[in-house]
Amino acid sequence: MKRIFIPLFALTFALAACGKSADDAPTSSSTTQTDPVAAAPAQALKPAAAAATDPVAHGKTLFARCASCHSIAPGKNGIGPSLHAITGKASASLADFAYSPAMQSANLTWDDATLSAYLENPQGLVKGNRMAFAGLKNPQDRADLIAYLHTLQ
Ligand code: HEC
Repeated sequence: MKRIFIPLFALTFALAACGKSADDAPTSSSTTQTDPVAAAPAQALKPAAAAATDPVAHGKTLFARCASCHSIAPGKNGIGPSLHAITGKASASLADFAYSPAMQSANLTWDDATLSAYLENPQGLVKGNRMAFAGLKNPQDRADLIAYLHTLQ
């Protein structure tokens, strides 16, 4: 939420600065071009800078590691169950997927903390489950991937 808010904040600033420049134009037009307050928000609006720090975009890229086994389409299972609307859901809740006995008795809710623990070390959280995935060790990668999973509603 915080990162999404920053560009809006910068935009508000940029608009305010534009308004100010127009108002000031008749008396101080020579100074508005180099005004650092007006210049800084313009840099913050660069699309490249926004993309580099967008957690959802990064998470979507990381999902390539899951896509060989997981579909994001509702009701479409692969080697693993569909991950459509997975956040907040109870574990092993899809009636049409054959979960392992380990996952069936795990009794978890896929909130952010539980997803992070599972994705860091699937066998550590649910011993004996059938997800053949070594784990995502970087905490920022896990957070970004989970941010992406939240969009699959
Ligand atoms: C090699 C295939 C494979 C890969 C790669 C894989 N998974 Fe899985 N995943 C599975 C299987 C199979 C299950 C079911 C496990 C069971 O029943 O024991 C599962 C289960 C899950 C569950 C629990 C679903 C539920 O309905 O309770 C989540 C969440 C999940 N995977 C997320 C991910 C994410 C996110 C990634 C990518 C980082 C990933 N998986 C990568 C095969 C995979």
